[in-house]
Amino acid sequence: MILVTGCAGFIGSNFVHTWLENHDEPIVNLDKLTYAGNLDNLASLSQDKRHIFVQGDIGDRARVDALLAQYNPRAVLNFAAESHVDRSIHGPGDFIQTNVVGTFNLLESVRAYWAVLPEPAKTDFRFLHVSTDEVYGTLAPQDPPFAETHPFEPNSPYAASKASSDHLVRAWHHTYGLPVLTTNCSNNYGPYHFPEKLIPLVILNALNGKPLPIYGDGQQVRDWLFVQDHCRAIARVLESGRLGETYNIGGWNEMANIDVVKTICARLDVLRPRADGKPYADQITYVTDRPGHDRRYAIDARKIESELGWKPLETFESGIQKTVQWYLDNPKWVEGVTSGEYRKWIGKQYG
Ligand code: NAD
Ligand code: TYD
Repeated sequence: MILVTGCAGFIGSNFVHTWLENHDEPIVNLDKLTYAGNLDNLASLSQDKRHIFVQGDIGDRARVDALLAQYNPRAVLNFAAESHVDRSIHGPGDFIQTNVVGTFNLLESVRAYWAVLPEPAKTDFRFLHVSTDEVYGTLAPQDPPFAETHPFEPNSPYAASKASSDHLVRAWHHTYGLPVLTTNCSNNYGPYHFPEKLIPLVILNALNGKPLPIYGDGQQVRDWLFVQDHCRAIARVLESGRLGETYNIGGWNEMANIDVVKTICARLDVLRPRADGKPYADQITYVTDRPGHDRRYAIDARKIESELGWKPLETFESGIQKTVQWYLDNPKWVEGVTSGEYRKWIGKQYG
C-alpha cells in the first residue's frame, strides 16, 4: 500500500479518487483536517476498504512512526501543506510549522523506516514530495517558462516555506540516500477546490450575486492545470521518475486572471443564466492588489513529457467546462464547505 498525506484537501482527495479508479492498491490517508481538509471530498469512498483515513499531523513523529510500522507502505507521497498564498501573508507561522518543520519531521520518520527495510523493499521504496512552481518566483512577459533548472526565488511566505521543504527533500536524498522524487506544478483547478482560491470563489460568488474580486489590474498570468491531469502525472512520476529528480508539471494554459474570470462568467451565462438576463461579467470588481503579487507563472513541462510520456488531456476550455458543471451539480458539497471557517476568512480578506 501507499501512505499519502493531505488527502482530504483539494489535490490529495482528487488523487485518491483517480488512484482508486486505476489501481487496487490501498491508500492510507494521513491528514490533520485543518480548515482546508474536508472528508466530504471522500464521502463516496466511505464504504471502500482501499481508503483508510487517519487524522494526524505530518509533524507528529510518534504518530507517523507508528503508522509506517503498522502499514509498511512501499511509498510515501506528501501532499499535506498550508497552501493558500493570501493566508500566508496574514499569518505565516502555520506555513513554517507544517511546510518546513512538518516536512522535516516527516522526512526523519520516513528515513528511519526506510533505513531498516529489507531488500528489495528498500531499493523499491519512494518518497514523493508535491510542490509548486511558486518556488521559482515570478516571470517577466517575455521570459521562457520555468524549467527544472530555474533558480529558486520564492516571493511569498507560502512559496518560501515550500522552497524550504523542497531543499530538505533534496538534501535527504544527497546526504542519506533517501529515494526521493519532487514535483513542482502550476495552479490546479477542478472538483473539490476550496472556495478561497480564484476559480471556485468566482463560480460561487457569481451564483450568489456577489462581487467577483480581481486583484490589481487582473493581468497576472497563471498556467492552469486540470487537477486530474496533475494526479495522473504524479502517478507516472511515482512509477517511473528518476531518483533525486524534480519534474515540473503544467497544463500549457497561460491565462491572465481577468480572462479566466471572463471565461467562467461566459460558461455560467450559458449553463445557469442570471435571473435578470444580464451577464455575470457585470459582477467583476477590481480590488486592492495582493502585496508582493507574482506577475506571471508558466511551466515548461517538456521533461515529464519526454521522459515519462505524460501529457495533459484537458485544455482550459474543456477543464473549466467540467469544473463549472461540477459546482452546479454538487450544491450539498458547496453548502458544507461554505460554512464556518471559510466565512470568517472571507470577512477578513474582503471586508
Ligand atoms: P489544500 O490546502 O486543499 O489541502 C492541504 C491538505 O493538507 C488539507 O487537507 C489539510 O488538512 C492537510 N494538512 C495541512 N497541514 C497538515 C499537517 N500538518 N499534517 C497533516 N495534514 C495537513 O491544498 P492543495 O491545493 O490540495 O495542495 C496540495 C499540495 O499541492 C500542497 O503541497 C501544495 O503546496 C501543492 N500545490 C498546490 C497547487 C494548487 O493549485 N492547489 C499548486 C501547486 C502545488
Ligand atoms: P489563487 O487561486 O489564490 O492561487 P495562487 O495565489 O496560488 O496563484 O490565485 C490565483 C490568481 O488569482 C492570483 O494571481 C491571485 C488572483 N486572485 C484574484 O485576483 N482575486 C481573488 O479573489 C483571488 C482569491 C485570487
